[in-house]
Formats: sequence, structure tokens, C-alpha cells
Amino acid sequence: MPASVRPDIAVDAHATLGEGPVWDDQQQRLLWLDILPGLVHRADPATGSDDVFRVGKPVGAASLRRGGGLVLAVEDGFALLDPDWQRLDQVAVVEHAGPRARFNEGKCDPAGRFLAGTMAYDLSPGAGSLYRLDPDLAVTRLLEGVTISNGLAWTADGTTLYYIDSPTQGVDAFGYDAGTGRLANRRRVVDIPAAAGLPDGMTIDADGCLWVALYGGSAVHRYAPDGRLDATLSFPVTNITCPVFGGPGFSVLYVTSARDGLDERQLAAQPHAGAVFAADVGTRGLPGLRFGG
Ligand code: BGC
Ligand code: CA
Repeated sequence: MPASVRPDIAVDAHATLGEGPVWDDQQQRLLWLDILPGLVHRADPATGSDDVFRVGKPVGAASLRRGGGLVLAVEDGFALLDPDWQRLDQVAVVEHAGPRARFNEGKCDPAGRFLAGTMAYDLSPGAGSLYRLDPDLAVTRLLEGVTISNGLAWTADGTTLYYIDSPTQGVDAFGYDAGTGRLANRRRVVDIPAAAGLPDGMTIDADGCLWVALYGGSAVHRYAPDGRLDATLSFPVTNITCPVFGGPGFSVLYVTSARDGLDERQLAAQPHAGAVFAADVGTRGLPGLRFGG
């Protein structure tokens, strides 16, 4: 990617905590969330329109379902939205022990399971977990002791899961068994200095490189599979939250951002905080994975 690439503004949304972008390749729409007010947005890059569905509680993550509609990780569990976006059914309640917590980022595995993690509102260390929702709607806890459960990405062959617990300042990899949905062999693959910001959302491209959003770092970094930082995309706002490839042939990198955590002075200096950005970074992404239930 040339160092001169500058992101455009796709939706100047002023989102509180813009997050969780998902590209719907069938409808050519960009879905994205505003977590704290509980909004699911559906933007049409061709017209600039941006519709909103109100969940009624915070929504941390969304993924497309194979039969249409969405699976959502809402504040306290999982919900299914029907294909017409009319009916929302909460299908699982997950009790958060300890301090008040909510679901944060989530994504589907190659077999159609939905993985999503939690975090305490007060960021209490170790108060979060990573969960798996199977297509039959059974819920399994995969990890405990997580602080801010964040980015998830699978390699194209589905055998490796990359995972970010933000305050650990890096990306870990797990061996992933797509047959059972089990995790094994956790290891560190990317280290990110605290001065670069908190690693947040993440996506993977067709070359197997990871694109990691840096909250507080005004950037998305691309890391090669060996952990080397090989490109930086800079933004005019500090709180960059999550990237996804979309658009024709998955050639556009869409990136969400947040106003949350900025003071009055910072907000005045960052009039586009909370926007969704779009950049042509010269590489393609992989089709998003869908929920089987
Ligand atoms: C969370 C935010 C958090 C940020 C940085 C996001 O995924 O929703 O609450 O501040 O990550 O770690
Ligand atoms: Ca996130």
C-alpha cells in the first residue's frame, strides 16, 4: 500500500462507538454498529443512504445469517434478527459474573458458529470471556480471564484463529478445529507498543495479512503472518475501532471510529470522529463468514 493512501469518509455518522463493520456481498451493503446506543446501521455506498435498526440495548457484534437476517451479540446474550429486519428474538442470555459487563466484538467461524466476547464496563482486568454460539443455539465459554475481548479473524483454511484482548497489546493465534470449534495452542504473533494505541478490531486479507485497528492510535496497521508491521494507514481521528474489506471484489477497506473517550477539545479538533471511512489499500479481503443458525 502506498504511504500516500488517505481514507475517504463513507458515512459521516458521528457515532458514539462505531464498530463491527460487516460487508453484505449479496446486497452490496455495509452493516455497522453503534454499540452503546444499540444501533445496527445499514449503509449503501452507492447512494450514501444509511438506515438504522434499534436493538433496544447495547449491541457488541453482528454477523450475517446464511438464510438472511443477522445474529447479534447484545449486551447480555445472543439474538437473531429475521431476514426482513422486523423481528428480533433473544435466543440466549449469558450471565456476566462480577462487575457490570457487556458483549463486545464477535465473528463467525468457517463452520457457521458465532464467537463473541465480553468486557466489563469499568474495564476490570480479567472480567471478560469469549463465548461460542453454535447453529443449534447452544452457548459454550471458550476463554475466561479476558479484559477487553476484541478482534477475531480466521485464516482462509480455517485452522488458525487470531484474537485480540486489547490490554495485552498484541495479537494471539490459536489452533482452531473447525470440526469441533475448540481452541488450542495459544501463542503471541504480533506485539504492539502501547504508544501505538490499543489493538481493537481486526480483519484478514487474501494474502493472510492482518489489518488491526488502533484505538487511540489514529491508524490501522497491517501485519504480515510472521508478525512484521508492513503498512500503516493513518486517519484524522484517534479512536479507530474496526476494519472490514467490502465493496466490489472486497477491494475497499471500510473502517469504523468512535467519539467515545474523547474530551470536548479533542472532539472539536476531530470533526469526523465517529465516521465510517473507506480506503483503497491495494489489496483484497476475504468474503465474510455467515452464521449457520
Ligand atoms: C470497545 C471499547 C474499547 C475499545 C478499545 C472496543 O472494542 O468496545 O469500549 O474502549 O475497544 O479497546
Ligand atoms: Ca472492537
